[in-house]
Amino acid sequence: MESARFRPRGHPGVSPDGRHYYPAFPYTTYIHMEDTDVADLFAYMQTLPVSDTPNKPHDVGFPFNIRRGLGLWKLLYLDESFVMTGEMSEQVTQGRYLVEALGHCAECHTPRGPFGGLQRDAWLSGAPNPSGKGRIPNITPAGLDWSADDIAYYLESGLTPDFDSVGGTMASVVDNMSQLPEVDRAAIAAYLKALP
Ligand code: HEC
Repeated sequence: MESARFRPRGHPGVSPDGRHYYPAFPYTTYIHMEDTDVADLFAYMQTLPVSDTPNKPHDVGFPFNIRRGLGLWKLLYLDESFVMTGEMSEQVTQGRYLVEALGHCAECHTPRGPFGGLQRDAWLSGAPNPSGKGRIPNITPAGLDWSADDIAYYLESGLTPDFDSVGGTMASVVDNMSQLPEVDRAAIAAYLKALP
């Protein structure tokens, strides 16, 4: 078999044979990634054992089952600019990259408009939980009064300041975050504290 090769992006969310991917693959977030990080991620995935589970067919409803419609969707919702702009410290800039690009925190914590686009004007302010009842919490300073240390510790241990422990889909996010260097968790916390 010919082995796949990493190609730098020119067309975000487009397969090597030119089809639009559904944005369930969060390229709306990964569009912010540095090419070198995309290449590293690709190299890592090439080391994983081949899975013998066949690909599942898509199960999305109209109008999203019309793949061509995704071109229009992307025109409306695919935005290359970062949400947080303006003057910011080096630490917050690093946190912005981790949150807005690599961590895809917004895919869960930001509400979506009628066609599934992230509402950038309500960034990280909480959203209905797509996997059941309840809401995914608001993690801007308006919704979360934890200190930066509290946030960093939660991302490391899954423990909240009032000794509750993380649940739901956030548990696997914390599993991943706990493997980051401490400076990265501190940067994420600093970014969240710097949100409007
Ligand atoms: C797959 C969906 C998902 C993703 C991605 C996600 N979160 Fe969460 N997050 C949740 C859910 C669900 C909860 C509520 C957990 C609970 O009730 O225990 C939560 C809770 C939190 C909380 C605690 C808020 C509170 O009031 O208890 C913080 C802080 C947080 N997330 C930060 C982040 C950061 C930072 C990222 C990106 C690195 C992120 N989350 C990515 C789903 C997600």
